[in-house]
Amino acid sequence: MSDAKVTIVYTPDDTGIAAAGKALAEGRLAAFPTETVYGLGADATNGEAVASIYAAKGRPSFNPLIVHVKSVEHAAEYVTFSDIARKLADRFWPGPLTLVLPRRGDCTLSLLVSAGLATAAIRCPDHPVAQAVIAASGKPIAAPSANPSGRISPTSAAHVYDGLQGKVDVIVDGGNTEIGVESTVLGFTADKAVLLRPGGLPRAAIEEITGPLLAPQAGIITSPGQLSSHYAPNAKVRLNATSVSAEEALLAFGPVPLAGATQTLNLSKRADLLEAASNLFAMLHTLDEAGATRIAVMPIPQEGLGEAINDRLKRAAAPRQS
Ligand code: TXA
Ligand code: MG
Repeated sequence: MSDAKVTIVYTPDDTGIAAAGKALAEGRLAAFPTETVYGLGADATNGEAVASIYAAKGRPSFNPLIVHVKSVEHAAEYVTFSDIARKLADRFWPGPLTLVLPRRGDCTLSLLVSAGLATAAIRCPDHPVAQAVIAASGKPIAAPSANPSGRISPTSAAHVYDGLQGKVDVIVDGGNTEIGVESTVLGFTADKAVLLRPGGLPRAAIEEITGPLLAPQAGIITSPGQLSSHYAPNAKVRLNATSVSAEEALLAFGPVPLAGATQTLNLSKRADLLEAASNLFAMLHTLDEAGATRIAVMPIPQEGLGEAINDRLKRAAAPRQS
């Protein structure tokens, strides 16, 4: 996963757009400008491609990612719009507003973009290059800011190159971004809008439509990146298992799963951390749905994406607030 790539920087002409679209459609990474900051894009329906975003950024945990689409209609293929959400999208898209909405039952977005949540954050960027790249890929595109974890967000192709050279396949250089801060993120509780992240679209513009925005409150809807906003299974989780009992389900890793579990799912038979990351949330869900009450997890190497996988597993294993 640390295998270096050759990063090619393109001008935003037909060749550059086609190269980015092709890379994305094939599960590789492409960085492109939006009106806010440069995004590090991957096919949002391809779990391993999404996992490679976290690997490239060196993110130690899986925060949910924003999915970029062409239009409201495109978004509606994946998430459900309430009346108020629809009004906001009609008014502000394309533009620097992200809406956190329930995933549809038939949603084909990777669970990793939602970090295991039942919602997905989605926005339609107002930048011709971003729009062209999304269209050329034929996919919804997951894209956090195109910077290594912990570094500032990139507003030029040079920033992206400096931070992610060798980790991203394609960069489309569309000059400096206009807004320079990330999009405003809104969630919803009942039909009230909640400001999850202030950003490029000012509060006042939104409040003209929604009335006063709520602040995120613990227990109702939480800001992302926070512990409680992430998926925790119903089952008790035991980490670094080197044996398994007959009362436990097993989340295995590698070619030799421990024997004796009630049920075994393997994060990656070939011990590939990208594959394991892309399976993590989906497999925890599957074990929950199967009614598992105890889950033993085999050790995951603490390298590359293993750090983020172990971070999530540790949270899943932590005592519950209830
Ligand atoms: O301007 C932007 O929004 C940039 C450009 C590239 O479009 N993108 C960006 O993406 O900032 P990202 O993935 O780094 O933003 C993730 C933020 C999280 O910090 C969180 O605030 C929110 O989006 N988010 C994503 N999914 C969520 C979910 N299911 N529930 C709540 N918040 C979510
Ligand atoms: Mg960022």
